[in-house]
Amino acid sequence: MTTSELRRAFRDAYGKDAEHVYFSPGRVNLIGEHTDYNGGYVFPCALSFGTYMLIAANGEKCLKFRSLNMPEVTEIPLNLLTTPLPARHWVNYPLGCIAQFVKRGHAVREGYDILIWGNVPAGAGLSSSAALEVVTAYAFNELLGTGFNRTELARIGQLSEQEFAGVRCGIMDQFASAQGKKDHAIYLNCDTLDFELVPVRLNGIKVVISNTHSPHKLDSGAYNDRVSQCQTALSELRSVRPELKNLAELTVEDFEKIGSAITDAVAYRRARHVVSEVARTKEAVSALRAGDIERFGKLMCESHISLRDDYEVTGLHLDTLAEEAWKIEGVIGSRMTGGGFGGCTVSLVRDEAIETFKQLVGQAYERKTGIRPDFYVAQISDGAREIND
Ligand code: GLA
Repeated sequence: MTTSELRRAFRDAYGKDAEHVYFSPGRVNLIGEHTDYNGGYVFPCALSFGTYMLIAANGEKCLKFRSLNMPEVTEIPLNLLTTPLPARHWVNYPLGCIAQFVKRGHAVREGYDILIWGNVPAGAGLSSSAALEVVTAYAFNELLGTGFNRTELARIGQLSEQEFAGVRCGIMDQFASAQGKKDHAIYLNCDTLDFELVPVRLNGIKVVISNTHSPHKLDSGAYNDRVSQCQTALSELRSVRPELKNLAELTVEDFEKIGSAITDAVAYRRARHVVSEVARTKEAVSALRAGDIERFGKLMCESHISLRDDYEVTGLHLDTLAEEAWKIEGVIGSRMTGGGFGGCTVSLVRDEAIETFKQLVGQAYERKTGIRPDFYVAQISDGAREIND
């Protein structure tokens, strides 16, 4: 929908004009998966699709939430902004962010009418929930004049997801949505939150996202299990290295020396993935800076294999898309992106191979799974902002 169509929808819903239109994007992660909550590196970029929030003061003592993607209207009195709604209610994502403002001493004294619309494919692992969180944090930061910086807004979004949606997520998705920059990927150290914007200049190559449309959505139970398994591994490693702060501090060589302190075989494999993925991410960013895109692509494929075999977050749908992509000439690299268990892969594909890629990967995937995948050529875009047209 265009901004003027959204403004019209707001008028239809609330009988007045929206005072502001805010937007925050979804993201795709190029490499560095399941490293963020282990203090490691990630390398995501913001996309052109995301979530819009239209808003106007309503002179009442409540917030009204409507979404063009969902049927119901939800009214929350201003004295109940820190109380979650029942589990899985979509309003928990924005509400959890507003609760963070209240908890930091910034009361919401005025009511607002709010309309949300998003065009991130749902359940695709492209962070529609982070887009919704960050657009809320961005909007309320402006409306309340709280002056939080973009990193703090990302943190507010992450806490909303943890406290109101029950996912023990890292900060990657919200950070990418808040800090994204056109034609750049964000090389983020998730321990210190220091980051660099690295130009993604890919002559004759596109970032292609392939959507499994797999019925398995990001399963917060399986995700939270991975977080716990990493914590188990970390606490066992501390028996031989007490000062170890997080798994991502270990080099591959360190892990070969002390990894046997992890007694649980599953936790061992999870930790091995984290350690190898952090090494791959660092190397991939150096390769990209040096213009060695072939090396970058090879590391993407190795990342997928590690997520498949050690971290076990892929499955038939993601594996089929990635493995079929690897067979095609002109594919530089391909891997699952995001939390896994369904969702999308990300591939670097030469311009002249894109049509063949869509055709051959699409056919093979449909043959194996009975589902037709979707393909999007990603446009790497800016992070959260107000839209003034
Ligand atoms: C989800 C989480 C992120 C990150 C990825 C895996 O997208 O929200 O914090 O852990 O999975 O890299």
